[in-house]
Amino acid sequence: MLKGISTREDALLAIEHGVDVVYVSNHGGRQLDHSIASTSALVEVVDAVKGRAKVLVDGGFCRGTDIAKAIALGADGVGLGRMMYFALAAAGAVERMLERLVEEYRVALGLLGVHSGAQLNQSYIHHVEAIQHETALLSAFPLLKEVELD
Ligand SMILES: Cc1cc2nc3c(=O)[nH]c(=O)nc-3n(C[C@H](O)[C@H](O)[C@H](O)COP(=O)(O)O)c2cc1C
Repeated sequence: MLKGISTREDALLAIEHGVDVVYVSNHGGRQLDHSIASTSALVEVVDAVKGRAKVLVDGGFCRGTDIAKAIALGADGVGLGRMMYFALAAAGAVERMLERLVEEYRVALGLLGVHSGAQLNQSYIHHVEAIQHETALLSAFPLLKEVELD
């Protein structure tokens, strides 16, 4: 497994060297500031690999829908970094966090009308240039602005 791939060229080198798993990652953005986001690199890496190795991706995966997006873009699986630490900080609830992620992913598949991730593809992805409206207080994703709870 080779981790830290974010270009077609490096993916092809990895394949040349016979790796089993090409792992798309910018190491959580903790190394080179402003490096390309993993999900942005994922499509060209999947295209370069052409099924000759498994493709994993990590970087910012927090919700079941995040996982669904990665699978739709061609990843075979996703990795988690900080989520493990967040769960550890929340009374060590790593198992519960993983259960919730799996459940969210399962529900997302159902709501997308498919039985498994294998049925997802890029047609399920809609690209937006910018956030189209502010998130509301009761949104599942109220992360984009600070909210005050009385
Ligand atoms: C505290 C910490 C230490 C890490 N150390 C390494 C490391 O030594 N080598 C490495 O390849 N990635 C390292 N990473 C990156 C993770 O392996 C992983 O790529 C990244 O955290 C995924 O993004 P996420 O945290 O948004 O899920 C580290 C991440 C964190 C949070």
